[in-house]
Amino acid sequence: MKNTVSQQIEITKASESKIGQVDFENLNFGKIFTDHMFVCDYVDGEWKAPKIIPYGPMTLDPSARVFHYGQAVFEGMKAYKDDNGDTFLFRPDENFKRINKSAERLAIPEFPEEYFFDGLNTLLKLDEEWIKSGYGNSLYIRPFVIATQASVSASEADEYRFMIICSPAQSYYSGDVSVLVAEKFSRSANGGFGYAKAAGNYAGQFYPTKLAKEQGYQQVIWTDSNSHEYVEEAGTMNLFFRVNDTLLTAPVSDRILDGVTRKSLIAIAEKEGISVDVRPIKVSEIVEAANNGSLKEIFGAGTAAVVSPVKAFGYKGEHYEIEKQENSYASHFKKALMDIQYNKAEDTFGWRYKV
Ligand code: COI
Repeated sequence: MKNTVSQQIEITKASESKIGQVDFENLNFGKIFTDHMFVCDYVDGEWKAPKIIPYGPMTLDPSARVFHYGQAVFEGMKAYKDDNGDTFLFRPDENFKRINKSAERLAIPEFPEEYFFDGLNTLLKLDEEWIKSGYGNSLYIRPFVIATQASVSASEADEYRFMIICSPAQSYYSGDVSVLVAEKFSRSANGGFGYAKAAGNYAGQFYPTKLAKEQGYQQVIWTDSNSHEYVEEAGTMNLFFRVNDTLLTAPVSDRILDGVTRKSLIAIAEKEGISVDVRPIKVSEIVEAANNGSLKEIFGAGTAAVVSPVKAFGYKGEHYEIEKQENSYASHFKKALMDIQYNKAEDTFGWRYKV
């Protein structure tokens, strides 16, 4: 009899690995995927038949609700390999909790913990060779859920698919980024689902970000939808502002993603005695700090982005350059975080999870 979920996972191995065709030194984020994927369907009121199959296209009915109403949520996580060849995840329990928090808001049924971890562990062991050791190399893991029920009726589906796909990754941004502060468009609103990793939250950013790119900025700093006076997040990452030696970051809310990297940096800073002020931040105070020289750094924090320095921002037609700091907080936090992720430092927080 099959009792644990991993024993129940039906595995069909790829007939041939694609790994030999991959240039691991020159990876574009999210373009190449490993040999296998985890799939589990929700049918007749339960998640069932977990399986791992070769990575590849799949067939869905054109009326599947995900195509029409965007009923979909996802997560972003990474696996890291240390110099001994051991593989680790970073705070995967946070991703598990968050995908279900996002799912609840999108009326998607909760995914069971045992299925999540057994699916992930089995998949990572199978595609283990795709995780390269060395600082900066990782395997980006994308768990997601889509509404598969065939029907364009505008209500929550009663059939879903949970999947995990994995992509070898290096850095998300190729250099320091420039960001444009939003004055007109909004990413989320009070009572909305900005806190969720819902597909639509990202699609809604593409058009304003495309306009920002035409002005030479790679990302938008979202501001509150009521007044556009307060900074929120950058869509692919939460934001930190260093004013003199204090770090400022906006509090999470129903409009802002509760980023795992964000809260890890806050914990590291607090442990090291670096002053962190988690409070609503006015755009005007960042502009004033840029003008009077007290704005030392801006950086983003996220799973894909890790810790990404911002070199300039645009606001109301003005462009503000941020001078590079010699001993930047961004590089300090990036190293402190990566040392834990790559098993190079003691994990006093208990964040590392051995696969
Ligand atoms: C992540 O950092 O994992 C994200 O989800 C950002 C992404 C849209 C690439």
